[in-house]
Amino acid sequence: MKNQCIISTSILSSNFKNLHNEIKDIENCGTDEIHIDVMDGEFVENLSFGLPIINTIRSSTKLPLEGHMMVNYPIKYVKSFADAGIDIFTFHIESKSPTMKTIELIKKQNLKVGIAINPDSSISLLQKYIDHIDRIIFMSVYPGKGGQKYIRSTEDKMIEFLSLNKNKNILLGVDGGIKSETIRGAYNAGARLFISGTGILDNKLGYYGAIDQLRRATLN
Ligand code: DX5
Ligand code: ZN
Repeated sequence: MKNQCIISTSILSSNFKNLHNEIKDIENCGTDEIHIDVMDGEFVENLSFGLPIINTIRSSTKLPLEGHMMVNYPIKYVKSFADAGIDIFTFHIESKSPTMKTIELIKKQNLKVGIAINPDSSISLLQKYIDHIDRIIFMSVYPGKGGQKYIRSTEDKMIEFLSLNKNKNILLGVDGGIKSETIRGAYNAGARLFISGTGILDNKLGYYGAIDQLRRATLN
């Protein structure tokens, strides 16, 4: 299990009026990564954003960018997203593209590979891919929108996953409902990557205070 914590800001709930300044603010307030939720209106009900926004974000920061592909056919987007400067390409195990082929294509583009898994999916789906990927994102909400309630049973899934994969050096992340009250449980269950949208962007403490509070909550 890796020990260093990564705090990633999901920009789904950010202020798009001036995206460049918003990304700069998030960066200056100490986030380690930027998480970009891409939705196709099929895999999930909503649509979100694609390449023009990713290009803008890429030109605004050198931070690692993770594309969280909530789309039915992620393989279609690997090349263009790599060209746009994504660093980590994370797709769903429930998507319809062939998983191993998608992994291979992502690696060919020299990107890191993430697989995301929905709250109701079994961790057994992940088993054959573990040695080929860099991270697993456990969805702690149903994908599709920000600001939902954290599903605590995600922690049991991570604990079970780690008990079955003791010697694997794979990064576990949680996405959805991460706030100062929920992050510690996810940490204790083995997550080291924490993706937070409204927990950072809609926080009275401001971005710096929110990120700092999240980081501290993993230490106490
Ligand atoms: C959900 C997205 C998440 C979401 C997180 O579909 O994948 O990344 O933006 O938002 P919060 O932290 O508000 O639950
Ligand atoms: Zn996400």
